[in-house]
Amino acid sequence: MLVSAKEMLNKAKAGKYAVGQFNINNLEWTKAILLTAQELNSPVILGVSEGAGKYMCGYKTVVGMVNGMLEELNITVPVALHLDHGSYEGAKKCIEAGFSSVMFDGSHYPIEENIAKTKELVAICNDLGLSLEAEVGAIGGEEDGVVGNGEVADPEECKMISDLGVTMLAAGIGNIHGKYPENWAGLSFDTLAKIQELTGTMPLVLHGGTGIPAEMIQKAISLGVSKINVNTECQLAFAAATREYVEAGKDLQGKGFDPRKLLAPGFEAIKATVKEKMELFGSVNKA
Ligand code: 13P
Repeated sequence: MLVSAKEMLNKAKAGKYAVGQFNINNLEWTKAILLTAQELNSPVILGVSEGAGKYMCGYKTVVGMVNGMLEELNITVPVALHLDHGSYEGAKKCIEAGFSSVMFDGSHYPIEENIAKTKELVAICNDLGLSLEAEVGAIGGEEDGVVGNGEVADPEECKMISDLGVTMLAAGIGNIHGKYPENWAGLSFDTLAKIQELTGTMPLVLHGGTGIPAEMIQKAISLGVSKINVNTECQLAFAAATREYVEAGKDLQGKGFDPRKLLAPGFEAIKATVKEKMELFGSVNKA
């Protein structure tokens, strides 16, 4: 059964580790992430962007696929199904479809509007026992057409949103979606420390997990980050493994063209990436 992300993230914050959110794109992705979480006895959050939701034929299809896998694969670790960077309408649709967690990304609105909309969703999510992630300060890079510049959030605004009773808070600290540019300034730990000081026990979320050096990840966790989002890194690993298979001509040998064979190296590459991240984030055996 899907669970809200509240308990797993509060435990992570108290225990000084982070739960990974891994974005899904299709059946192989979902199966790879769920099996790895189960093997490592780790809680996990499956992230679905609005674009990926559309690609997978809508939120109801996603809920059906994930619930089916939890049962058929005997997944017993805590799993939350979470809308990533949702609009207000998208969040409502996911709630109706059966997601156990949603993110409302109101960071591009003026702070008053972000507060008003987040507040409404807090009430809805609380009633239904779902977790809600809010965001302050756009996160840089590009994801499904949303572009930013490695922005840094205002800690006072973070406190205002945190006080609304959200479950977890994403705050820009110079992080960027996708690959980091060579001249990236790195994470702003001063900002993170101030945000953590003002928001206390609130689990903080670090987006743009791809390519952040291990030491920076560990420092971010020590300063209150309890959820780390990873998307691009699984895509790069999947693409590289698939390229290698095709370039070695394996799709031309025997039944190598069978999608169950063709997609297997990419599937294994996602599993390896998720394992590496769970070990780095410290969530192994924390189910
Ligand atoms: P990356 O694609 O950079 O890993 O970011 C993922 C993310 O933050 C999803 O919200």
